[in-house]
Order: sequence, then structure tokens, then C-alpha cells
Amino acid sequence: MPEERLKRGYEVDENAIRFSNYFHVLRELVHRASGRLPLVASFEAKYRLGEQLYDDARALSKVKRRLYELRHPSDYPGAPGEELGVVLEGDREELKSALLLAVRVHLETLDPVKDEPSLRILRQIAERQERHIGGASVPDGDDLGALPVRLRETRELRVLPPLGEPARDDFVEVTEEGDPYLVSDLYVNGPENHVPVEAEEQKHFFHGLMDAELSAAELMARNSHEYPDMPWDFHADMARQVWDELRHARVHDILMKTELDCRWGDYPVGFSYFRSVYAHDLLGRLALFNSTSEQKAMWRHSHRRKVLMDRGQESVALVFDYLLADEVPHVHNGVRWGTYLMGGDEQAYRRKVAELRGELDETGAPRAA
Ligand SMILES: [Fe+2]
Ligand SMILES: [Fe+2]
Repeated sequence: MPEERLKRGYEVDENAIRFSNYFHVLRELVHRASGRLPLVASFEAKYRLGEQLYDDARALSKVKRRLYELRHPSDYPGAPGEELGVVLEGDREELKSALLLAVRVHLETLDPVKDEPSLRILRQIAERQERHIGGASVPDGDDLGALPVRLRETRELRVLPPLGEPARDDFVEVTEEGDPYLVSDLYVNGPENHVPVEAEEQKHFFHGLMDAELSAAELMARNSHEYPDMPWDFHADMARQVWDELRHARVHDILMKTELDCRWGDYPVGFSYFRSVYAHDLLGRLALFNSTSEQKAMWRHSHRRKVLMDRGQESVALVFDYLLADEVPHVHNGVRWGTYLMGGDEQAYRRKVAELRGELDETGAPRAA
């Protein structure tokens, strides 16, 4: 082991203040990205935003943990001081650059032995932020890590107005009824559970599924954005699900191009199902989407996987294998946070789910009024 003198580094208090400032920047980034995600039209841009949202959420979880290790969490992270408050008004790129600049100063100054836990977290944050800004150079500016924080205070996050409907690439046609080819028989659960096997049917089916994945990502993103006072772990779970659903959309996008001879935008999409779930409060959305729609999709996916495997469409069948695996934690998100909203009473949540399910038809769509 090299025998270098220890660096002065930061005092523990200074270190905790720095992490508090990073906390506020990352919280603002996650909150804003969650609100904006449905409004981004380009699939690629939406995908990138969701990926960065998840990176920033994981970074925030580690920053919180480090604050807990350094100082009692009831004091920290506090609220941003006045100067940081001004920084937080900046746009996304400015926030990311300012964060990266501060983390670089921190890495330069800290003692890598006494404070190795910080070193490891900060290296990871710096590497991710560099990737997010695409190698752009960071303009010189103030070191936001050194700004004072206001302890034992909290900061309210600004929530966007309710969403009308999500945005899609301008080449995607949005209609009231969506793709007329996708009849409700495709989505019924039961022994007659239909699996699309004909080429034309599969094209429409996967196109519709890609749109459904995007809507799922958008719903989870807005759950996080519109309920900022939920515990941090809820936002971390939503961020992960946003990223999962966007990855699913990407899988379908690739599958359409490479196996099914069709492309995103070949057929119209519609938002009536999205709107029917989004119209509920958080409890209703979790009950209808995570605990109903996603739970039933699990069984359909497993049946589809088996039928397609038997037919020799292995690469399509294996997509369902992973969709099924990812669906398990998504269903769990419903139970976990629905129970939380019912004051910890899981049975009360299950009754709520049963009650809301009663309002759906056999495909899971709300019965026409
Ligand atoms: Fe999905
Ligand atoms: Fe899902």
C-alpha cells in the first residue's frame, strides 16, 4: 500500500453539506424528468430521459445513504439555501453541469482513505453525469457543494399541471379508437387466451404493445411527479419501473424491425386506456394498473411464451420470458405502495383492488358508461 500523507480533505460537516446540496439537485432532476417524460414526443429522447431518470434516482439513494452515515437524517438534507435555490431554477443541462463541477471539486479535495465511501459514490456520479451530458465541456462556475443549506426545513417541489395526453413521435398517428385491428379478443384472460401467431396479427400486436409500454412508463413517471411527498423509496421504485417499461418498448421496437417486418408508426395508437387509469388518484392507479392490468398480463405473457416456443418462434417467445420476469416487481409495486396508502393494511388494499376491478370488462378496460 502506498504511504502518502493523508490529505486534509473535508470536515464531516462540510462533507454532509456537500451531499445535501447534491441531494437537492438530484431530487429536482428526478422530479422534473418524471413530470416531463410523457411530454417528450421522440421515442429515442423519451428513452434517454427515462434512462437518466433512473441513473439519477439510484445516485440519490446512495447520496441519502451517505448522509445517513455522516449525519443524523432528521437534520439533513434540510432545504436548499438561497443560492442553491437560484441554481435549481436553471434548466436540466445547467443543473447537470453544475452538479458535475461540484462533484469534480469534491473528488479533487477529499482524502481518498479517510473518506473512501464518498470517493466511490462520487466517482460513479461523475461518470454518469459525464455520460448524460454527452461529453460536453462543463462551463466554469460556482462550486454548489460549498453553498449553505437550511437544516430542519423542507423544500416543496413544483408540480406540473395535469397531463392531457402523452406525446408520440410526429409520424405516429393518434386517434380516438387506436388501431382498429386490435380487437378486444386479444386481451381476454382465460383458457381461450389468444396468442397472435399470424404475421399480420403479430405486427399490429407488437406495435400496440410498444405503445402500451410507453404509456406504462408515462403513468409511473407521473405517479412519482404528482405525489412528491411519498417516501423516497416509492420514487426509486417508480424510476426503476419507468426505465423497465421504456426498455420493453425498445425491445418491441427492435423486434418489429428485425423479426416482424414493420416499424413504430405503421399503425395508429389511442390513449383511451391511459386516460381511464390516469383519471384516478395514486391509489386507484396502482390498483388498476399494477395490481390488475400488469398482474393479468403476467399470465398472458407466460401463455404466449409457451405457444410461441412450441411454434418455433424462439426470439419472440423469449421476449415474453423477460417481460414476465420484469412484471413481478411491477405487480409488487402495486401491493407495496397501495398498502402504504391504506395505512399499512394490505387486506384493505386488496378490497380496494377488488372493488375497482368490478368496474372493468373482461379485457380489463373500463365498462362503457
Ligand atoms: Fe412492460
Ligand atoms: Fe410492467
